[in-house]
Amino acid sequence: MASPTSDENNSRPLKPIPGSYGLPFFGALKDRHDYFYNQGQDEFFLSRINKYGSTVFRTNMPPGPFISSNPKVIAVLDAVSFSVLLDNSKIEKRNVLDGTFMPSTSFTGGHRVCAYLDPSEPKHAAIKGFILSTLASKHDTFIPLFRACLSELFANIEDNIRDNNVANFNDLSDNMSFNFVFNLFCDGNPTEHGLGPKANIDFDKWLFFQLHPLITLGLSKFLNLFEDLVLHTFPLPSFLVKSGYDKLYNAFYSSASVILDEAENRFNIKRDEACHNLVFVAGFNAYGGMKALFPSLIKWVALGGESLHRQLADEIRTVVKEQGGVTITALNKMSLTKSVIYEALRIDPPVPFQYGKAKEDMIVNSHDVAFQIKKGEMIFGYQPLATKDPRIFDNPEEFVSDRFVGEEGEKLLQYVYWSNERETQNPTVDNKQCPGKDLVVLMCRVLLVELFLRYDTFTIKASKLLLGSSVKFLSLTKATTTI
Ligand code: HEM
Repeated sequence: MASPTSDENNSRPLKPIPGSYGLPFFGALKDRHDYFYNQGQDEFFLSRINKYGSTVFRTNMPPGPFISSNPKVIAVLDAVSFSVLLDNSKIEKRNVLDGTFMPSTSFTGGHRVCAYLDPSEPKHAAIKGFILSTLASKHDTFIPLFRACLSELFANIEDNIRDNNVANFNDLSDNMSFNFVFNLFCDGNPTEHGLGPKANIDFDKWLFFQLHPLITLGLSKFLNLFEDLVLHTFPLPSFLVKSGYDKLYNAFYSSASVILDEAENRFNIKRDEACHNLVFVAGFNAYGGMKALFPSLIKWVALGGESLHRQLADEIRTVVKEQGGVTITALNKMSLTKSVIYEALRIDPPVPFQYGKAKEDMIVNSHDVAFQIKKGEMIFGYQPLATKDPRIFDNPEEFVSDRFVGEEGEKLLQYVYWSNERETQNPTVDNKQCPGKDLVVLMCRVLLVELFLRYDTFTIKASKLLLGSSVKFLSLTKATTTI
């Protein structure tokens, strides 16, 4: 491995930032068409890195006109320059969750929810503290609840393969994720609280109405102009998804009373604001994150083939037998399983875009050169390139299952950024790291453990889907050894 360049080294030569925004309006339109239709996401960035000979450059980011008033960004696409986005003393994270536009607060009951707040806003500490404390109070529930949800998931996958020769993992996994999150916060199944068995579809619609400016449906070429007009030019109105959102809100409001009491009494947050935040955490942060993450994890593990499956099954069954069950201690001993999950999060980070505004004039380092960024300029990181930086990771485009095993491997965890911070850091009320970080890694571990306790190997068919992967299970081979 090439030795990682230290972020602290300030002796790099200062260079002007290459790239241009083009003509007003037309430059942003051209970049949007390149990004969605002419080049595609990765090629959009890679071609510009080649053109400018730089991993830091100026460009417009979609959606542009008329949804974002200012689409101009400075892209930071290597592991070193990207890390400026993690520095809350230099970067303002107010209203930048989705990039250069912010969906109307009418999607969230008129409130700017936690993920849109900068840590310098006092409300951020109160709401994030409330979320961190809610998660801590549910700690003992995570493993048994998630295992129960997975049991149902695998039974459904088996049924679908038996009946139709194929199981749509995304649909089944989304439903499972929703049931898990709802149960976690509301202590009961959605159907016991007045919601239908497919209530997650209301979250899907609500998510789509907020994120459509970043999405392409991959239609045929002659429909691109039409799609661009409908999805990328004007925001879709929230009233079209309001009744679905209200149903979810009411179910959370009536069944998460213990958590909401805590928000009011201990964190001084008004009950309706706490509940809109809870719905956003459940539906956007957690359910939305799981929607992207689980299919991607399954895809990468499937691509590892039978030999990886055998190694994982061996490790998982041996440790579970030794430890007498699926416990936190057992999960911590599964070094290959842990590494596989970090590798999936590195190669395919579920939330690929990060944004932040420069709080002051500053110098940003990349590996060999430095750049000056002015106060107020928008900095944009496309994480898949930062976490596939060839100066940090050997064979960065390859899924190396044991990359993070051992002392040397673990040193690389500082360059895994999926949670909006280094994997070696922890979420606090003062930073913008995902408070679900440990829960997310835990769920991925339990998912692989349940998979390989039940099955020796499996096959899938994968393709691209909106902001992530679509996975269909074709076969599951039952475990030949039991513990
Ligand atoms: C399942 C996969 C998940 C992924 C991939 C994910 C990813 C992320 C990322 C990248 C951010 C930072 C966004 C930004 O500011 O750029 C974030 C923030 C956040 N996440 Fe997660 N997350 C997941 C699950 C969860 C869960 C389970 C919870 C809570 C139960 C959660 C709650 C939050 C909250 C509240 C924030 C805002 C933090 C703040 O404002 O300081 N997330 N998440």
